Amino acid sequence: MKTNYKSHILKLIFLIIAFSTITYFNRIDYFSLNWNHSINLSNTTVEDRIDLNVITNDSFQCVKTKLLLNKYHTTVCVHDVGKDTDVSGFIVRTGIWEETLVTRIIRILSTHRQLAFIDVGANIGIYTMYAAALGCKNVIAIECFRPNIERIRRAVQLENVEHQVIIMARALYNKSNTYLSVRTNIRNNIGSQQLNIETLKNENDSLVVQSMRFDDLLPLVKERDIREAIIKIDIETSEQYLCETGEQMFNQINIPFVMMEWANIKEIPARANLIEEFFTNRSYIPFNSETCEPQTEKNYRHWYTQDIFWIKKTYTYLCKL
Ligand SMILES: *[C@@H]1O[C@H](CO)[C@@H](O)[C@H](O)[C@H]1NC(C)=O
Ligand SMILES: *[C@@H]1O[C@H](CO)[C@@H](O)[C@H](O)[C@H]1NC(C)=O
Ligand SMILES: *[C@@H]1O[C@H](CO)[C@@H](O)[C@H](O)[C@H]1NC(C)=O
Ligand SMILES: *[C@@H]1O[C@H](CO)[C@@H](O)[C@H](O)[C@H]1NC(C)=O
Ligand SMILES: *[C@@H]1O[C@H](CO)[C@@H](O)[C@H](O)[C@H]1NC(C)=O
Repeated sequence: MKTNYKSHILKLIFLIIAFSTITYFNRIDYFSLNWNHSINLSNTTVEDRIDLNVITNDSFQCVKTKLLLNKYHTTVCVHDVGKDTDVSGFIVRTGIWEETLVTRIIRILSTHRQLAFIDVGANIGIYTMYAAALGCKNVIAIECFRPNIERIRRAVQLENVEHQVIIMARALYNKSNTYLSVRTNIRNNIGSQQLNIETLKNENDSLVVQSMRFDDLLPLVKERDIREAIIKIDIETSEQYLCETGEQMFNQINIPFVMMEWANIKEIPARANLIEEFFTNRSYIPFNSETCEPQTEKNYRHWYTQDIFWIKKTYTYLCKL
């Protein structure tokens, strides 16, 4: 009995070490990007937009979503539920994903019609599709993963919102037009991809994606005459690129509200510090995404919600609409 107990403890210790090692190397691997390939610093152009009239041959399921605010529902096209239990599985069962947050975003957009919506890491487009459904005239979805893009495009076609939605098939990064390999980040969540290393172009591999800087949206913003926008960003610990590469966007258009996934990136100090400093410099206040109260805790690692809202000082009412 005693040895049995000991061996269980040993197994447990081994598992903890193995898990920590894997986590540790994943992080290192993420930082040590490969610089052997030629670097292309030119901007992306609006030509990188997805043609919304192309009909995909892929077959997948599209579902009607839940009615929110007694007014708005839409369509999203999901992944095979077996491969994407988290997001697609939940949507098929309930008709919605992140209901509280989606509702907050559509409350803001439906009462402030001048706002554009920029969905960075659109996944299968639940936020994008609700924003389009409520009549937002400029919905920009940035999404790098082909199977996700095909699903958003199909949903856009089913809802006839082609003139409102722009899909940029890109990953946010600190350089434009670089090819990156991504890998599935979370088990059973195929729609969620994390940037890995720079690589060579391969149009047949959906895990090789092209990059953009946030400021690469400037020509598009100008063309569509966008002066104000809110942002949702959820890109698996690459969120700091929004700040690193978005200075011109933040200077040239009014961005009063940014919803950002926080739970994971807060554990990477270099990135979290940069984000906090960027928003603090611009007089944004961090808000708890569940209570809509300002974060009283100074140390951002003690902000325990999955997401954080960065809200400009003079726009904090947007949280409690
Ligand atoms: C990228 O775009 C910005 C803003 O439009 C412009 O100022 C800059 O010169 C461009 N850079 C390159 C390398 O084309
Ligand atoms: C879909 O399939 C048809 C017939 O095989 C083909 O002509 C068309 O190019 C395909 N479309 C795409 C987007 O691949
Ligand atoms: C881009 O990001 C990578 C990974 O964080 C970093 O190693 C590299 O120095 C950055 N490059 C530029 C041009 O900022
Ligand atoms: C992509 O697939 C096409 C058709 O199967 C093939 O001709 C082409 O060489 C492939 N490209 C790469 C980079 O593998
Ligand atoms: C914040 O502002 C300071 C002072 O102007 C500047 O040195 C720093 O680079 C800014 N940080 C970010 C992340 O924008």
